[in-house]
Amino acid sequence: MSLSIALTKGRLEEKTVAMLEKSGYGVERLKDKGRALIFPDTKKDIQYFLAKPNDVITYVEHGVADIGIVGKDTLMEGGKDYYELLDMNTGICQFILAGLPGNNPLEKVGHIKIGTKYPNVTASYFHAKGMEPEIIKIDGSVELGPVLGLCDGIVDIMETGTTLKENGLVVFDTVCRISARAIVNKVSFKLKKDEVNAFLNDLRESEK
Ligand code: PRP
Repeated sequence: MSLSIALTKGRLEEKTVAMLEKSGYGVERLKDKGRALIFPDTKKDIQYFLAKPNDVITYVEHGVADIGIVGKDTLMEGGKDYYELLDMNTGICQFILAGLPGNNPLEKVGHIKIGTKYPNVTASYFHAKGMEPEIIKIDGSVELGPVLGLCDGIVDIMETGTTLKENGLVVFDTVCRISARAIVNKVSFKLKKDEVNAFLNDLRESEK
């Protein structure tokens, strides 16, 4: 049976494609893609498509994709009707709390405002510390928030730390490590068990 695999476009894309190539998959079309969105594997009975992180979860939950490759940050923020079966150990970054030097939200008394693309992750993180900040949803360039005075701090992903540094922000705390994960549709895991397991095993092998 053929597999349909949703890949996250953008930041994770290149790393995922490199991993697939190393595992012997025919990803030539993904490497030279133009504006196309769907790509047949040139060696195996697989169809890949590229989608935004949240949409990868949606396609897997609805069974349009059997497997999705997506960051743990996106999985932590929402969606739960899938099996998370593999830590791909790529796309590794940290969830961090950051802000302007000397303005640590964890030490501030009274009302605090936190800007983030991840309101649920942020609420859980502060809740565990017995704090309930006002959470301001920002869709991108989150680092602008504290710099322009929109918020006291941000909860965001940090990979190299360059964006924080270049905008004069510092890390106050690490929330957790994140990395790319393979998630599987629950029905596909039953009906296409052999194909799904073969794919996941190939990815596991490529790490060695
Ligand atoms: C992410 C994140 C940080 C940056 C961190 O944003 O929100 O802004 O990357 O990476 P670094 O530590 O290597 O500098 P992304 O590039 O995905 O774009 P966005 O701000 O538009 O969401």
